[in-house]
Amino acid sequence: MSSCLDAARSETDPAETSRFRPAIHFTARDTWLNDPNGLVFYDGLYHLFFQNNPYGNVWGNMSWGHATSRDLLHWTEHPVAIACDGTEDIFSGSVVVDHGNTSGFSTADAPAFVAIYTSAYKAASEHGGTQAQSLAYSTDAGMTWRKYEGNPVLTRNSANFRDPKVFRYQGDQGACWVMVAVEAQQQKVVFYRSDDLKSWDFLSDFGPANADAGEWECPDLFPLAVDGDPDNTKWVLIVNINPGAVAGGSGGQYFIGHFDGERFLPDIGTLVAPTGVSSLPDPEMAAALQQCLWLDWGRDCYASVSFSNAPDDRRIIIGWMNNWDYANELPTAPWRSSMTLAREVRLTAVSGSALLIQQPVLADRCAREELTPAKDHMGASSFELRNSALRLPDAVPGSAQIIEAEILPGSAERLDFRLVGSGDGSKSTILSYNTASAQLTLDRRQSGNTRFHEKFSSAESAPLGLEDGVLKLLIVVDHCSVEVFAQDGRTVMTDLIFPETESPENSLSAVGGSATILKLAVSTLT
Ligand code: FRU
Repeated sequence: MSSCLDAARSETDPAETSRFRPAIHFTARDTWLNDPNGLVFYDGLYHLFFQNNPYGNVWGNMSWGHATSRDLLHWTEHPVAIACDGTEDIFSGSVVVDHGNTSGFSTADAPAFVAIYTSAYKAASEHGGTQAQSLAYSTDAGMTWRKYEGNPVLTRNSANFRDPKVFRYQGDQGACWVMVAVEAQQQKVVFYRSDDLKSWDFLSDFGPANADAGEWECPDLFPLAVDGDPDNTKWVLIVNINPGAVAGGSGGQYFIGHFDGERFLPDIGTLVAPTGVSSLPDPEMAAALQQCLWLDWGRDCYASVSFSNAPDDRRIIIGWMNNWDYANELPTAPWRSSMTLAREVRLTAVSGSALLIQQPVLADRCAREELTPAKDHMGASSFELRNSALRLPDAVPGSAQIIEAEILPGSAERLDFRLVGSGDGSKSTILSYNTASAQLTLDRRQSGNTRFHEKFSSAESAPLGLEDGVLKLLIVVDHCSVEVFAQDGRTVMTDLIFPETESPENSLSAVGGSATILKLAVSTLT
């Protein structure tokens, strides 16, 4: 592998930060990562390629790292798959398995994996300063890669044309490949089609729309049956945006509509303002952002894209658990950054509109019988919590904790989960539900080390209605992160945390009244 740039490493002491290494989230062993790339399932293995700096733990030397997993929780890192060189960085993109050998790269033994990635051309290249789409292929199921000699396969002579997501589209006229990419600074998704992955024709574009104050990056497009009804299938267009997301900085929005093989038409009523939100004054912009559809309302879920070929027609996404606001300065070493949990997405109808719901893929390891029900001293499984705190089981060192709760807030003004906190309550990450304002807030201002960047200390809120009066939460805490799936995954919030507490405690309290706990269970995953 030829070196691209000088290795860059942060000053953070590895011994100080090893306690932040997650148990069930992917991190590179000792380098930097950002966006998930080329997510593909083949022959029992999930492949995760990712934006990687093979020589350091800050952004640079962009190459595709590679890891595989059978359960989406435990990953094995492999050698770098596609490396940068003196002429190009390897930016984000996707992988397809070319079962029909449309590209001609396959062998008699196996279909080729074809990576469609962005060549970010350097000055030394004849294409210097532009971003264009290129191919690499693997004939050993993703383990070793060769760049196509005809690269780039698609250019617009643009400096910001990137992040191709390619999928097989089956239309009335037959099947073809469709590419969804972005003109990042124009806030546009661009659509192309191809028969062989090498020659591409422009179809249409979409945007700006809804959140459009930053660059549009890492798009994805896929169909889902609403509530499983194949006669009511809608298309989900994911558009990541940085900066300008609802919690500040990087985040992912989505659109629901129809794709006819040529263009994406959003459903009526799903665009918040005809001209987008970037021209609105601050308070109005914040209000407009709340109306957009967000994959995640926290600070640390970006560049989410989905797997190709996931089994049983499941649609599974992974995001980068970070935010460009402070990404290069996270206080960890020698690794920096992790992925979110894999999340299965579905569409469900809510008040006549389709909404994306997400559930973390926790596999069978989180079987119900492994859960520890928190019961009162009488052994009852539903109990009242009145102006008091209930201590939850402590985390088992080295494992992630999953807290599941169903609560009737009753007369309580607030329900507070204090997570990874100090015994005296002075430090903790607080997940709070406010009954009057119907808001869920994730507050990491007292979570631990927030000093490493001025933009890190934050509290994020999302509107959240009760269902039949019940608040349902699934919370995953894994060393340096909290992921919250509320109301069966209708609202998701992800925040990084860097706790400094030696013996962290979790508790739940009802504030200003009494609440009925219908279910409260804690399980661990290693
Ligand atoms: C998103 C992004 C992509 C780009 C990659 C470069 O985080 O900026 O648009 O391809 O990262 O690392």
